[in-house]
Amino acid sequence: MGSETATDESRVGRLDGRVALVTGGGSGLGRATAVLLARRGARVVCLDLAGDAARSTTLLLESSGQDHLALSGNVARQESVDEVTAAVIERFGRIDVLVNSAGIAEGKAATLDQDLAHWQRIIDVNLTGSYLMCQAVARTMRDTGGGVILNLSSIAGVIGLPRRTAYSASKGAVSMLTKVLAAEWAPYGIRVNAVAPGYIRTAMTERLMAEGRLDLEAIIRRSPTGALGTADNVAEALAFLASDQARFITGVVLPVDGAYTVYGSPEDAYPGVLGDGHD
Ligand SMILES: NC(=O)c1ccc[n+]([C@@H]2O[C@H](COP(=O)([O-])OP(=O)(O)OC[C@H]3O[C@@H](n4cnc5c(N)ncnc54)[C@H](O)[C@@H]3O)[C@@H](O)[C@H]2O)c1
Repeated sequence: MGSETATDESRVGRLDGRVALVTGGGSGLGRATAVLLARRGARVVCLDLAGDAARSTTLLLESSGQDHLALSGNVARQESVDEVTAAVIERFGRIDVLVNSAGIAEGKAATLDQDLAHWQRIIDVNLTGSYLMCQAVARTMRDTGGGVILNLSSIAGVIGLPRRTAYSASKGAVSMLTKVLAAEWAPYGIRVNAVAPGYIRTAMTERLMAEGRLDLEAIIRRSPTGALGTADNVAEALAFLASDQARFITGVVLPVDGAYTVYGSPEDAYPGVLGDGHD
């Protein structure tokens, strides 16, 4: 009995034998998630618009001893989504976990000054891309008896961030997409969840800071933890949701934001940065 318990415990969080497809796997949260899922035993397919970036992630995974695959593709195009899904099925025969991390955050302008092309680009990748991937992969999951789909929402999908119009609308919609699909696909054994990260240090946020579109000190003052999150913080949450330990969790949008969205006081959340100290 004792050794049985020990064996079970050693399998907690493990993804051995699973096939995970990570979109946006060439960078940031997608890359960190691909690395962690491989460490937990999954065979990982990295899909990215930037094929070289996807390949460089799979090189990082080689030490796991599993078979991995890098693919170049565009989640916003139906033909590309169909090709990618077919390529994964041809190679591995199944997809057990889908992580939709491909996304763009370009542009932060007054809504009255935006044009339709800007709106459309962001909606196409973040929302339509997630929808197309969910649909194509769920068809295969239905045929193989189930799976787990994980979407990337954002604090921008929870609270109103001025001038992040299309991005925020896309993320709010991704949260709702997650709930609808969880309700609809539970009978197929498909769980659908999302994480809503706060400000996380990745290429995306480094780029926004370099362009002067994110003010690091202001973010830290507004963050109860006084810190940005790490890509590993988000990857750990996704790996948990992908695991059997989350088997009765579906339809949730899990904040991974260090209490950013629940903070409601008018004062700075982290006055320590100003030298005022904490109570
Ligand atoms: N970094 C953060 O602070 C943060 C916070 C909340 C939510 N998110 C969300 O997490 C996801 C990942 O963000 P990140 O910070 O890792 O970004 P990132 O820019 O580091 O990585 C995104 C990856 O997606 C790829 N990609 C873009 N468009 C694509 C397309 N059409 N098809 C396939 N691949 C495409 C890019 O090439 C890139 O490799 C995004 O959806 C983002 O909105 C990020």
